[in-house]
Amino acid sequence: MCITKLGRLSLGLYGHLQTVCRAAWSGSSWSAVRRQRSLGLQTHSTSQNTVDPEEVRRFQLLASKWWDEGGEFAPLHAMNDLRVPFVRDNMLSVHGQRHPGKPLAEFKILDVGCGGGLLSEPLGRLGAEVLGIDPVDDSIYTAQMHTSYDPDLRDSVSYQACTIEELSENERNVGHFDAIVASEVVEHVADLDTFIFCCKHVLKPGGSLFITTINKTNLSYALGIVVAEQLLGIVPTGTHDWEKFISPDDLERLLESNGFSVQSVRGMLYNPVSGAWCWANSTAINYPVDVSECGLHPEEHSVSARS
Ligand SMILES: C[S@@+](CC[C@H](N)C(=O)[O-])C[C@H]1O[C@@H](n2cnc3c(N)ncnc32)[C@H](O)[C@@H]1O
Repeated sequence: MCITKLGRLSLGLYGHLQTVCRAAWSGSSWSAVRRQRSLGLQTHSTSQNTVDPEEVRRFQLLASKWWDEGGEFAPLHAMNDLRVPFVRDNMLSVHGQRHPGKPLAEFKILDVGCGGGLLSEPLGRLGAEVLGIDPVDDSIYTAQMHTSYDPDLRDSVSYQACTIEELSENERNVGHFDAIVASEVVEHVADLDTFIFCCKHVLKPGGSLFITTINKTNLSYALGIVVAEQLLGIVPTGTHDWEKFISPDDLERLLESNGFSVQSVRGMLYNPVSGAWCWANSTAINYPVDVSECGLHPEEHSVSARS
């Protein structure tokens, strides 16, 4: 959906902005919000389509490779050692332990940009009811096939080929999920503002959003693109576009402007020799961020943050 010039000109219309945001926060349908946004009343979106077709084409070519642990996605397999406990421990610290042995039982988790389900499956094994979504049909097919081999996951992990904006259009999904994970996804998204807005729309009040991504630094360019892609071939060439990387500060600002409150940001480092990840003090390259929906209109949030 395209935004008209009129729409861009109306970005500063505070009164309309309030109408749109309050409609969203009061639980009216995302379609209604989207219609208002498309009339030029949106807060901050530029395209309302989070998908970059070039990214889809690139991941389509890799869709059969997700479960090759020594292949293109080896670093994502290894990242589970950090990100699964990160999600689990933060969920438990907010919501408390409910079932020993299945610590995430009764939580509904949305894995946005799930690819082949590398993160969906371990979260399902921890007891969560997981829905993985991805715009690449073939990746969803791979995820479904792989999960179908594990009888323990058949009832708890499911997948859908769609985008977050499509998912959030369905009334049934509004305020539905206890948590959302978007791991190594936001650096592939065309419109991050809309992406975050839609995440908030399907999250329960007080729900958690976990993002892992890549910082926009000289070091991330050198290691993430030149070394990892061009010299060592750990990741296929062209996987990342440095322009789409985002610093923790910019990401925090975007999240807070969408009514989230940042709980924690950490640094992560990948060792290409050992193939393992470790926590780091520096967020100069990779970092996870844990935020919670603070149930406030963005304006109210900024007021409460100031006071
Ligand atoms: C680097 S992979 C990460 C996959 C998975 N999250 C993991 O960590 O194993 C990036 C994924 O984001 C998906 N993607 C790209 N653009 C997207 C968008 N606009 N919305 C949701 N997912 C997207 C890709 O299809 C791909 O599966």
